[in-house]
Amino acid sequence: MKPVLAHLTEVVGAAFASCGYDAALGTVHISDRLDLCQYQCNGAFAGAKQYHKAPLVIAGEVAAVLAENPLFAKVEGVRPGFINLTLSDEAMLKAAFELATDEHLGIPQTEKPETIVLDYGGPNIAKPLHIGHLRPAIIGEALKRLMRASGCKVIGDVHMGDWGLPIGLVIAELEVRMPGYSCYNGTYQPGDPLPPVTTDLLNEVYPFASAKSKEDKAFSERAHAITVALQQHEPGFIALWQEIRRISVEDMSRSYKQLNVTFDLWYGESNSAEYIDAALNAMREKDILYKDNGAMIVDVAEDTDKSPVPPAIIIKTDGGVTYQATDIATILQRVQELNATKIWYVVDFRQGLHFQQVFRAARKAGIAPENVELAHLPNGTMNGSDGKPYKTRGGGVMRLSDLLDTATQAALEKISGSSYVEEGNHEELARKVGMAAIKFGDLINHRTKDYIFDLDKFLSFEGKTGTYVLYTVTRINSILKKAGVAYDAPVDFRGIYSDDERDILLKILGTPEVFATAVAERAPNYLCENAYQLAVAFSGFYHNHRILAETDEDKKATWLSLCLLVRRLILLQMDILGIDTVENM
Ligand code: ARG
Repeated sequence: MKPVLAHLTEVVGAAFASCGYDAALGTVHISDRLDLCQYQCNGAFAGAKQYHKAPLVIAGEVAAVLAENPLFAKVEGVRPGFINLTLSDEAMLKAAFELATDEHLGIPQTEKPETIVLDYGGPNIAKPLHIGHLRPAIIGEALKRLMRASGCKVIGDVHMGDWGLPIGLVIAELEVRMPGYSCYNGTYQPGDPLPPVTTDLLNEVYPFASAKSKEDKAFSERAHAITVALQQHEPGFIALWQEIRRISVEDMSRSYKQLNVTFDLWYGESNSAEYIDAALNAMREKDILYKDNGAMIVDVAEDTDKSPVPPAIIIKTDGGVTYQATDIATILQRVQELNATKIWYVVDFRQGLHFQQVFRAARKAGIAPENVELAHLPNGTMNGSDGKPYKTRGGGVMRLSDLLDTATQAALEKISGSSYVEEGNHEELARKVGMAAIKFGDLINHRTKDYIFDLDKFLSFEGKTGTYVLYTVTRINSILKKAGVAYDAPVDFRGIYSDDERDILLKILGTPEVFATAVAERAPNYLCENAYQLAVAFSGFYHNHRILAETDEDKKATWLSLCLLVRRLILLQMDILGIDTVENM
């Protein structure tokens, strides 16, 4: 189905054309003055310049043509040259019916099915997830679901940091604390015992080893040597690394699961290892790789750069491969193995320079052909009330699992004392409300913007919150259940009886465009906002009408249909956002 605005733009464009003007002037928007009309077109202003006529004259001519169209209840050309449009009730009901019966519930479908590799999450093994990993994970998950819903093939890859110095540091420290294992000294045989590693141990070892390496030169050198040996697949280090990776993945999976974040591929930097040589060869062939102070680098500066873009470092002086090298090799892998036509990275904006270097080097080397899109979709940071990246009370970086537990606990306290919520066992409800609070509170912000984390506000039953949207859904559920209407019942719109129906239908009919905007900007916040707006429109409607007590059958059928459609649209959007709704509270 065609979204209403797109359809209106066509109709109004044709009217411009029939008056002898450019059809491109017909772009229609939702009205800025909903008290006057539902939609408006401002094309007469641009037309006035093009055709040297007063805008009001053009608006009047076009409006006269449109007034003949049964699509509209009212069309006016008004001073100084706006075209105000209001749909006829029949047209609104017809469009709502089409939306409700569309197999994609109005989500515009892509014309060119792409294969998108979405790189998000970006956790590092041997280090616990911290709150900096929240945004890339949940924004990436929402984009994955959104692009899939619009018809693309999307492969979500967690792309763990698992191949760099942090691993060398951890192994070097394990060697000190639990010496004597064959994995350290080159004599490892498959089946040999490995030092017993646990999550708690790993969480403590990395910061310790990282601090130690700054003071202890010999230790630091050992860690570097281990990293290089690991990258060259020394069997003992590989065996221990696999164990560390397994335990880390288990641990991080718990937090991702709570957040409804799932990945198709649990690859890491290490999975690019077999593509490193091919990537280096591609760079050599293009003659762009050269030695500089013992390192191997590629120049990526361009004449038009406003600020200097330093070279990409591919191999370090100690022979280790860099973060840039693994990202370049991973592009090769994604193009060759996964047939990616788009590779998107949901990663903190502070890595902007890194991706600029990586993308340029990959293009120069011919690793990323021109028809493959590479895009860094930067995310802003989650800040504390001081406007700086969120910290624990002690000033440290908060673990993601602690944040999730805190939210669940706070949700439990909130709902246990709330008049909105029925008595009962609230554990599972609290988890869902807590996660909805965090995710909605985050996703309502454009992904590029920073925001302030305020759990109290996010959990509130009032305002733009996940809790409010969840609560609204439970109210709709309860109406439908009491009316004996199944959630998947067909809609049955019979008429429009007041402006209340028109208001809510206008919101409903705008939803397909919201999807289009979210896709175009690759930004899930539009869906969040729309789900909230639908919830508000419904609450207003509910306040003014006694749906269950209504005795006029036509009204009641129509109102229940509005309940059904609003519910479906909110659920669809919440599902794409990866937010669980609840049946009742
Ligand atoms: N592990 C990285 C970090 O913690 C993020 C990885 C992002 N993805 C990528 N392909 N570089 O900073």
